[in-house]
Amino acid sequence: MIKKVKNKVICGNALTVLKQFPDNSVDMGITSPPYNKRENKKGWLVNKVIYKNATDNLPEIEYQKNQISVLDELYRVIKSGGSFFYNHKIRWERGVMIHPMDWLRKTKWVIRQEIVWDRMIAANIRGWRFWQVNEHIYWLYKPKENNIIGEELKSKHALLTSIWRFSPESKNPHPAPFTMTLPIRAIYSIMDEYKEGIIIDPYCGSGTTLVAAKILGHYYSGIDISKEYVDYTSKRLKNYENEIPSAMKEIPKHIVKKTFKERKEKGEFVGKHRKNNINNKEKTPTLFECYERGNK
Ligand SMILES: C[S@@+](CC[C@H](N)C(=O)[O-])C[C@H]1O[C@@H](n2cnc3c(N)ncnc32)[C@H](O)[C@@H]1O
Repeated sequence: MIKKVKNKVICGNALTVLKQFPDNSVDMGITSPPYNKRENKKGWLVNKVIYKNATDNLPEIEYQKNQISVLDELYRVIKSGGSFFYNHKIRWERGVMIHPMDWLRKTKWVIRQEIVWDRMIAANIRGWRFWQVNEHIYWLYKPKENNIIGEELKSKHALLTSIWRFSPESKNPHPAPFTMTLPIRAIYSIMDEYKEGIIIDPYCGSGTTLVAAKILGHYYSGIDISKEYVDYTSKRLKNYENEIPSAMKEIPKHIVKKTFKERKEKGEFVGKHRKNNINNKEKTPTLFECYERGNK
């Protein structure tokens, strides 16, 4: 049994290592597991997404069973009332859709929300379907005292929508890193300045989740099968201060200028589609821009 999980980055298999974590030892988590992409078929722009020390090529049934086991271990390890953000995407095999819900519903977690991550760029360039620019982030919840609804988000966080729009990270040597905004948004929304805790990422890769946790004043706990990525993560954590400016760009988005009640009292618009929401800077790029970015 691992006694101290705080501020550790462990090299090993996620499931094996998680089994050694104590019950209820971590406050929340975020991850993007390997997607079982089956390395690789024609028509993909992302054929460079090949991890050091890990293949991504299991029979699909075995892959899903493993993901269920990992998620159920995380359920045991995370405290009641805690959340886990699980990033995955819809895949197809021989024309049959494989949806993350296929295995998420078989885990112990309450599925609290499905967030669409609009990456504004497609991974595949074949025309079997419209270009898939979205991935999903599942907000999973471990109920406290059988209350499956859980606590409300503060309105400054809840005012963000269920569509998160930012492009993937391009300046990181890892083949499939998070954009820093993603873990910053998830952590800050659940555990803002009034709380402190341990954030886990069982497939931490280049350590983006762990750096985000450190920047926001929390502890971290990470696992990855590749020693190279674990070493890279440790270096990144030492130099975390360099990443504060980019991480902090997310924080001003969590603000309530006027409450719903105040807007209603003044007869102002109380819906979600404000003009500045539609015309914001994060506009969807043209297909040409997507193609250009994918080729960089
Ligand atoms: C999508 S990447 C995660 C990237 C990470 N979010 C980041 O920001 O860099 C998935 C990671 O899972 C790791 N991995 C693959 N199989 C694993 C396993 N069985 N146990 C632990 N880590 C594994 C890979 O080495 C890879 O770094």
